[in-house]
Amino acid sequence: MTDQTIQPRPPYAGTRYPRLVEVPAFREFIAQGWDDVPTHPDLPEGAAEAAASHRTRLSAAFAGQTLVLCAGVAPVRNDDASYGFRADSSFVWLTGCQTEDAVLVMWARPGGHDAVLYMPPPFRPGDDGFFSNALHGELWVGPSAGIAEWAQALQIAVEPLAALEARSGDLRGALAARSATDLAAAHGATVSTDLERTLSTLRMVKDEWEIGQLREAIDATVSGFAAVAAEIPHAISADLGERWLQGTFDRHARTFGNGPGYSTIVGSGAHAPILHWVRCDGPIHPDQALLLDMGVEARSLYTADVTRTVPAQGTFSAAQREVHDLVERAHRAGLDRIRPGTAYLDFHFAAMQVVAQGLHDWGLLPVSVDEALSPQGQQHRRYLACGIGHHLGLDVHDCSQAHYEDYMGADLEPGVVMTVEPGLYFHAHDLTLPPELRGIGVRLEDDVLVTATGSEVLSGALPIDAAGIEAWTRQQWAAR
Ligand code: GLY
Ligand code: MN
Ligand code: MN
Repeated sequence: MTDQTIQPRPPYAGTRYPRLVEVPAFREFIAQGWDDVPTHPDLPEGAAEAAASHRTRLSAAFAGQTLVLCAGVAPVRNDDASYGFRADSSFVWLTGCQTEDAVLVMWARPGGHDAVLYMPPPFRPGDDGFFSNALHGELWVGPSAGIAEWAQALQIAVEPLAALEARSGDLRGALAARSATDLAAAHGATVSTDLERTLSTLRMVKDEWEIGQLREAIDATVSGFAAVAAEIPHAISADLGERWLQGTFDRHARTFGNGPGYSTIVGSGAHAPILHWVRCDGPIHPDQALLLDMGVEARSLYTADVTRTVPAQGTFSAAQREVHDLVERAHRAGLDRIRPGTAYLDFHFAAMQVVAQGLHDWGLLPVSVDEALSPQGQQHRRYLACGIGHHLGLDVHDCSQAHYEDYMGADLEPGVVMTVEPGLYFHAHDLTLPPELRGIGVRLEDDVLVTATGSEVLSGALPIDAAGIEAWTRQQWAAR
């Protein structure tokens, strides 16, 4: 809960530049003469039903305990200019709502919980906030759905935030998510690691609606890859660099979803091995490989996370292709292990076995393959120091607060969506490498659904073999 009413700068008070709320003639004039604007929450179909079923699952895990979560507020950049708002993922999972500053309380009662969504009502004509509140004043943010429209759309009790203020004493002893840290401190609730962990664990198995949202995000990402690949020749010829391709994807993500699900990575040549190359400020080197790690976040906030490494000129060099082939073999080995009932980490070990063997065959390992693969070795990971997969959902690294036993140490279940993303990262300044391998970075990342009988590669519309990627890249140029 915040107060973002625009405050006068101290030196202005009592000057010739008045605060509008202190000018009766102005207040009277601006309060009248506005037509009614119909407003409706912009909800994807099925969002309310999915959220209700998520609340039922959470309720069962916390009988007798009042729970509180917040949507959050955008961080301030300067004055009343904020960074973009993105609602808290668990809050969205439980409500389907993305309203800034809203609060969900699941009030404990015998046999379950009563969920109430508290939200700041928009300030409409006749309220001073209409013209003076930059966060919720309709003159600033446009006509917005109100309490009644939200209650209708979500089929949940919705009340103004002031109603929560009035009974905030009842929050004493409640369990709060991290998103409600400030509220917890103000009203005697406890920020609960157990609540965060449980939410992470419950969010791991996606229902049909969530899988549909992920499919939408991934399909939009696949078309975003095509849009970016189509721009490579222009980015090179006009010397527009990585920035142009990053902007191309981000525009696509904003147009066909909510935006990018994480900072887009576009790394050409020596930037490709840099795991989180989000600076994206270099040139596109025509003869080098170009790593693209990009994901569209759907309007429901479910995100894709896909990587392909493409030849900027349409054909891989022999060295680039050899690296790509090894990563592809590791990728296929990992994908092969994904099915219900197998240990989550099986894909990791299968892919690492291939990587370690390949590096050994190239003479890059200082020890045997078995020594490297042992927990005491891990030398192969000099060239692959990151994780090579994770759960995917509302967050790109979804469910990250779950216990080891519920995540890394668990078996796969139908409904899990995860990435598989082996790579090899040969840095330009790594002196252990022969010169022809320096500055090559390759990652293959797919989004995979665990099904009842095996798995489905949701991002499988993009090729994973070097020849297929070359042909696909050139196809995008021909189609332009
Ligand atoms: N793009 C972040 C990741 O692949 O995990
Ligand atoms: Mn990933
Ligand atoms: Mn990624």
